[in-house]
This record gives sequence, C-alpha cells and structure tokens, in this order.
Amino acid sequence: MPSTCVFGAQWGDEGKGKIIDRMAADADCVVRYQGGANAGHTVVVAGEKFVLHLIPSGILHKGTVNMIGGGVALDPAKLLEEVDGLRERGVTVEGQNLRVSASAHVIFEFTRTLDGLAERWKGDGRIGTTGRGIGPCYADKASRSGLRVADLLSRERLQPRLERLLAEKNALMTGVYGEEPFDVAAELERSLALGERLAPFVADVGAELRDAHAGGARVLFEGAQGALLDIDHGTYPYVTSSNTGTAGIAAGAGFPANQLEDAVGIAKAYCTRVGEGPFPTEDHGAEGQKIRDEGNEYGATTGRPRRCGWFDSVAMRFTCDLNGATGLIVTNLDVLSAFDELKVCVAYHLDGERLERYPSGRDLDGIEPEYVTFPGWGTDITGARSWDDLPAAAQAYVQHLEALSGTPIVMLSVGPERDQVIPMAVEAST
Ligand code: IMP
Repeated sequence: MPSTCVFGAQWGDEGKGKIIDRMAADADCVVRYQGGANAGHTVVVAGEKFVLHLIPSGILHKGTVNMIGGGVALDPAKLLEEVDGLRERGVTVEGQNLRVSASAHVIFEFTRTLDGLAERWKGDGRIGTTGRGIGPCYADKASRSGLRVADLLSRERLQPRLERLLAEKNALMTGVYGEEPFDVAAELERSLALGERLAPFVADVGAELRDAHAGGARVLFEGAQGALLDIDHGTYPYVTSSNTGTAGIAAGAGFPANQLEDAVGIAKAYCTRVGEGPFPTEDHGAEGQKIRDEGNEYGATTGRPRRCGWFDSVAMRFTCDLNGATGLIVTNLDVLSAFDELKVCVAYHLDGERLERYPSGRDLDGIEPEYVTFPGWGTDITGARSWDDLPAAAQAYVQHLEALSGTPIVMLSVGPERDQVIPMAVEAST
C-alpha cells in the first residue's frame, strides 16, 4: 500500500477506526487531512477501547509516524487532552510519532461557542453539528481571518491577529447573538499556553510527507466523517465543512493527487446517520430501533442516538464512483444476524421518476427508496474468520452488496476487535 486512502462511504461512523488501526500495522505514516475533533474513531485492542478524535489511529502502533495535515481544523485543547489520555494509558505520543502541520487552522474555545450559537440562530434549519467548532473554523479559513497553528507559537504573531479576529467575533456576539463578548486577554494567554505545549509536535507536514513517500514510505490517509457529509458532494447544507473523501487529500495533506494509489471505502452492512438531513433508507419504526440496539448505534463523539436504516446501494455506487474506490470494506455484518429479512435499496423514486443514479444536487425531500429483500441467516457470525465460516445466506447478502455497489468487497468486519475480520478471497466475488 504505498499510498492508500480509507474513507467513509456513507454518513460517517462506518467503523473506519478499526480498519485504519489494522491497516496501520503495515503503514509507515498515517495521515489525517480534514475534519477535526468532530470525528470519533473507535479502536478496540485486547478488550481495551480507545476513541481517537484528532490523533491518527496509527498512534497505537509502535514505529508509525502520525501526521495531522494543514487541512485539519485543529483544536489544540482537545488534541492535548487526547495526548495526555493516551500517555496515561501507556501509549507513546512524542514529537517523533505525532506531527502537526503549522498550517492547520485553529479551533479556540470561542470557536466552539460560536458553533453552538450558529446552530441556535438557524432554528429549525440547524445542521445538528457535533458542536466542535468545525463550521466556524473553516468559515474563518475561507474568509481569510482564521488563525493557524504557527500563530500560536509566538506572542508577537498571535496577539494582533487574535485581537483582530475577536473584535469581529465580539461584534457578532453582542450585536447579533445578544451575548457577552469574549475576553481577549484570557483567550490570548490560554492560546499561548496551548501553543507552548503543542510546539514539539509542530512541523511542515506536507514536506515531511512528500519526502517520506518519495523515500518509499507506505502512507495511509485516514478520512474522517463520510462521503455523504462532504461539503461539495454531500447532502448540502446538512454536511460537514470539509472534503471528506479522496478529494480532500491533495489540499489537506499537501500530497499530489496523482500519487494516491488506492482508495478503500468503508461502509456498514446497513446505514446510520447522526444530525439532521436527508436519509432515504431511514427506518423510523421497530426495525430501525432494532438496528440501533443490536449495533449499539450511539455517537462516539457526542453520545447521540444514531438514525438507522437499510443499506443504500444507490448512494454507495455514487460515493465509490466519486472517490475512485478500488475496494470496499463492509463492517458490522454481525449486527444483521438478529434479522429474519434484510432490505437493500436498489433505486429511488423522486418526483415521479425512478432513479438508479444518485440525484446529486437535487432536493431529496420526499424521496422513496425501492427495496429488494434478502433472507437473514439467524446465527451468530462474530466468530467467523473466513468466507467459508459464513452461512450461505450471509455470503449471498454480501455478494449482492458487492454486485449492487459495483466495487469489489475486500474485507468484512464481524465485531469490534482487531481480529474480527474476514479477508475476502476471490471466490467471494465470483
Ligand atoms: P460538524 O462536522 O460538527 O459541523 O457537523 C456537521 C454534520 O456532520 C452533523 O450532521 C454531524 O452529526 C455530522 N458529523 C460530523 N462528524 C461526524 C462523524 O465523525 N461521524 C458522523 N457524523 C458526523
């Protein structure tokens, strides 16, 4: 895998953390290139659970260099909390195995506050954000008033920039939101203290990454969120504020687009979504609740119950196509063991039209999924480790997902532990 991207092929929470953790064993560098602490990548190692929000999942492997690219919306307080938490559990996190781009834009305490207030201001049109300051941080970046990690490293550099930014934010706080202004002096001191602790990790990540790759290093890009939450191609405006798939890598990591060799999409064997926005295969009834219960579908970052529904092959063809997926990994297959029948969406009906192609850019209100139904297998598959260990009905279900998605399924996941996977042999797809 000289350069491989792992991206979420649905609305996030597809189980990327575990897959990246496995693939990180064969990687020299693991790189986050977009998003921020809105992500929650869960990895279970020998029964011990780790939830990583900002630090790449390769941190749990000795010898891996973990890089946070300039495209990440970096919350230094959250990052350092994560560093401390990992160190307390015996994980090494030092300047040599964690590299943070000097160009990454910073999320301050006030950025998080503004995220909450923007949601309140939107009222019924709220996005249902994670409240981690992601939207306001990228908005400041795009409007060229944002501050970057390098700015935190010197008082002379930070003070005038922060004062300018907070003058604007305080006008918004008092004039629009009717709130108290932020305390500029307190924010300055807090940010400088964070900058001091961050300094050993700060680097020119793009240059280091390109050098490492040119020298033969195996690079793994860790996408956060999912393709349907992409700012340009997702269910806008109910999206996050970055390019979540392969398109985000070139800008977000400083890595030439033509150097990416593989793109592996991660998808659950069903669908979930947190926050507001269209979800064509959502099941509001007992089956959706059963998926939630069986899959323990509650957000790793916010604890919110996830909306649940059936596998959507229309959306899957779109996200695989859009991201140039060379393979698909299907997770949580074991969760479906509890069902007698499984539904898969094969087409949409919208405004009197039957659509097999995802209607990108159209308003999805009133969309109706068309399902085909497959028999369940009704037995526990969490102990399966090879294709032959799976019941025939589970094999048939996976083969249908592959045919409908138009992308080879290269691995299945049947539980949260590192070893609960089934690598796919050629016979599975024939
Ligand atoms: P934000 O990224 O916090 O601005 O939230 C925007 C939308 O993306 C909301 O619907 C969130 O629930 C969703 N979202 C953000 N991060 C994740 C994630 O890691 N998993 C799933 N959904 C996410």
